[in-house]
Amino acid sequence: MSYNNIITTLENGIFTITINRPDKLNALNTATIDELKTAFKEVCDNEAIKGVIVTGSGPKAFVAGADISEFTNLTPDQGKELSAAGHVLFDRIEQCPKPVIAAVNGFALGGGCELAMSCHIRIASDNAKFGQPEVKLGLIPGYGGTQRLVQLIGKSKALEYLMTADMMTAEQALQHGLVNYVTSAEQLIPKCNEIMGKIISQSPAAITAIINSVNAYFTDSVNGYKTEIDEFGKCFATEDFKEGTSAFMEKRKANFTGR
Ligand code: COA
Repeated sequence: MSYNNIITTLENGIFTITINRPDKLNALNTATIDELKTAFKEVCDNEAIKGVIVTGSGPKAFVAGADISEFTNLTPDQGKELSAAGHVLFDRIEQCPKPVIAAVNGFALGGGCELAMSCHIRIASDNAKFGQPEVKLGLIPGYGGTQRLVQLIGKSKALEYLMTADMMTAEQALQHGLVNYVTSAEQLIPKCNEIMGKIISQSPAAITAIINSVNAYFTDSVNGYKTEIDEFGKCFATEDFKEGTSAFMEKRKANFTGR
């Protein structure tokens, strides 16, 4: 399969997907989300693929979020559609029958943090930074962040990070249980390969059963995802959202009014 925004390689059963828009810090535009959906279909269909590693191109970012330049003129209904379309990808990753590890090699913000959280395991390099800064744009996370951050680090810390927009260092992410290991930048992919190697030496059927069973623990929060999609859409009707996104594009501080 050939792609424009991602690079894929298959070696020893491990399929590595590298999001490749380094000039935009690998921000997830619609085209990239569509390619990731296709890539994860390929993961399911190709028997030679035993496990997946997702990472970002360049030394600076895993993924710095959804592509804000695509947000600016959306109506609330279009905002809901954007969110729901993203949920299809993130659910597909979470429910992937083969193990998926996020190799977080820098900024994992907004949709980038949500992408990492939809993977089964996260390993970070020591320069990684995590966060859900959407509130700074007059928005909320739209790709599952309000649900998966709570699942991974607990309600109290999740609310703090969601409401302050603070970034988490790799060490803090380790402390909060968001990532399993922190390595040097050089050791990140070798560490992911080492863990993936152990996983794919086990019974693939048992691994799929474990993924399904662990996911089933969280089935009750399915209404939370629906609420997130509705609330995300509503943000697009606010003046704060227009001010937040304009301020980002114009590289200035936002002046929110609460309307
Ligand atoms: N969407 C679209 N473009 C983005 C982006 C995003 N989420 N994140 C970064 N970019 C672009 C920048 O606009 C810039 O493009 P330009 O060179 O054409 O101006 C380029 O990527 C480099 O980013 P820059 O901001 O110059 O790098 P930095 O090192 O000064 O700051 C960040 C890095 C990650 C702190 C900053 O880019 C940022 O805050 N990004 C947005 C994070 C965010 O809010 N994510 C949630 C989105 S819902």
